[in-house]
Amino acid sequence: MIKGDSKDYDLLEKWTKGFDCQGYKSCEIGVRAGLGSKIIMDNVVNNYIHVGVDPYGNLKYQHYDHTGAITCDYTDDMRDTMLNDFKSYRNQGKFTLCNMTDTKFMNDTEHRHSTFAFVHFDGPHMSKDVMTEAIWFANRAAPHTRFVFDDHPKYEMSVIAYALELYGFKTKEMGDNKCLLEKQ
Ligand SMILES: C[S@@+](CC[C@H](N)C(=O)[O-])C[C@H]1O[C@@H](n2cnc3c(N)ncnc32)[C@H](O)[C@@H]1O
Repeated sequence: MIKGDSKDYDLLEKWTKGFDCQGYKSCEIGVRAGLGSKIIMDNVVNNYIHVGVDPYGNLKYQHYDHTGAITCDYTDDMRDTMLNDFKSYRNQGKFTLCNMTDTKFMNDTEHRHSTFAFVHFDGPHMSKDVMTEAIWFANRAAPHTRFVFDDHPKYEMSVIAYALELYGFKTKEMGDNKCLLEKQ
């Protein structure tokens, strides 16, 4: 069974169920064992492909604004298990892993020209990183795009939501851990 490490997966399911990606891509930043990506792939419709972005490699990095750098359990073995669990999705062309950091992904020419209809932000949880990702994806957002942010109490979500208003996003629903913003 594919495991998650967070809360509000029921909300992620609700916000993806039947959501029409209009032939554009979906994305999850921070895949870990794969539960978030699985829920997205199982529930959205008309998705070009789901892109997972994760460097794995058991990196030591600063997770939150006011903490030091730590190592978690995001190993290459975890990546390999996830890739095996997602074999049928990969064989059907529904999933691809970009085994790299968010920064590398956002600078990669291949992805800079993509359009995304659904994004789950669940990688780095420092405010400046989430803000950088949010603006990058807002510039590549399809009409009616949905953004879901995990662990929003851990960073400056109100500042990020305010900035996203400039790109036409409105906050639609707040869970304890995840929140949904939608492009109007
Ligand atoms: C909280 S876990 C993701 C949980 C997953 N979305 C789920 O629902 O089960 C965070 C993940 O972010 C990844 N990560 C860490 N730094 C990253 C970065 N700079 N860019 C992308 N992903 C990163 C970690 O390797 C880890 O797998």
